[in-house]
Amino acid sequence: MPDSAVIADGLHARAAASTGSLPIRFEGIDFAVGATHILSGVELELHAGGPTVLMGPNGSGKTTLLKLAMGLLTPTAGSITFDGASHAPARARAIMFQKPVMLRRSVAANIAFALEAAGRPSSTSDIRRLLDLAHIAPLAERPARRLSGGEQQRLALARALAREPQVLFLDEPTASLDPSSTKLVEEIISQVSASGVKIVMSTHDLGQARRLAHEIVFMAGGRVVEHEPAASFFNQPATEEARRFLAGELVV
Ligand SMILES: Nc1ncnc2c1ncn2[C@@H]1O[C@H](COP(=O)(O)OP(=O)(O)O)[C@@H](O)[C@H]1O
Ligand SMILES: [Mg+2]
Repeated sequence: MPDSAVIADGLHARAAASTGSLPIRFEGIDFAVGATHILSGVELELHAGGPTVLMGPNGSGKTTLLKLAMGLLTPTAGSITFDGASHAPARARAIMFQKPVMLRRSVAANIAFALEAAGRPSSTSDIRRLLDLAHIAPLAERPARRLSGGEQQRLALARALAREPQVLFLDEPTASLDPSSTKLVEEIISQVSASGVKIVMSTHDLGQARRLAHEIVFMAGGRVVEHEPAASFFNQPATEEARRFLAGELVV
């Protein structure tokens, strides 16, 4: 078995062993700040399986939806449940943002910190496994803040995976990366997904959505407008908003 398959297998065994987080069910979700409704009436069920990709114009509520699912924000109305429970262990979920913050220490020490924060001893073999998974083993002793954008993003992925999440939320994970860094991050996302970790990610990159998505959640104006298998979304979007979005027009 190639190394990557062994690593993926290890992740899979661990993901399967943790308590259930899926499906994630959003029921009647509203999120408002003052008088501004950022999300309205969101009804959505996310199941185990391939990546769910959130698409939609800027300001449509993708980041807010991911933060709510991660538990970083509390809905103004409605409920979010994980396998039927409203208080699923947060450790079963992890999130990575577009611009991750690196700790002022080495790459390996950033991973060790993430392992300890997740409540597990930072064993050399766990650090090694995560370095390999993120293709950053040669950078282990480098100061994390000196890494390129793509390398930092891969380190952030390794840190998120240190929690051994069942669900990994990614908010525009390659938005500021060049094509070769983007390709590498996409390969890691595919491998993590194949290992049984549920990926829920936003992107504004149509090509990336076509490459990675099993299903699409299309948002506009703080509402979920479509939730479709990727093939039907791209071939036959059901709504005018999605048709215009796919055609590259601005949707307001
Ligand atoms: N804390 C906040 N206070 C006021 N407005 C916010 C807040 N967070 C987000 N918004 C607004 O809500 C809308 C949706 O934001 P966001 O979820 O970041 O959308 P997306 O990720 O799809 O671009 C935007 O118009 C944004 O300006
Ligand atoms: Mg966003």
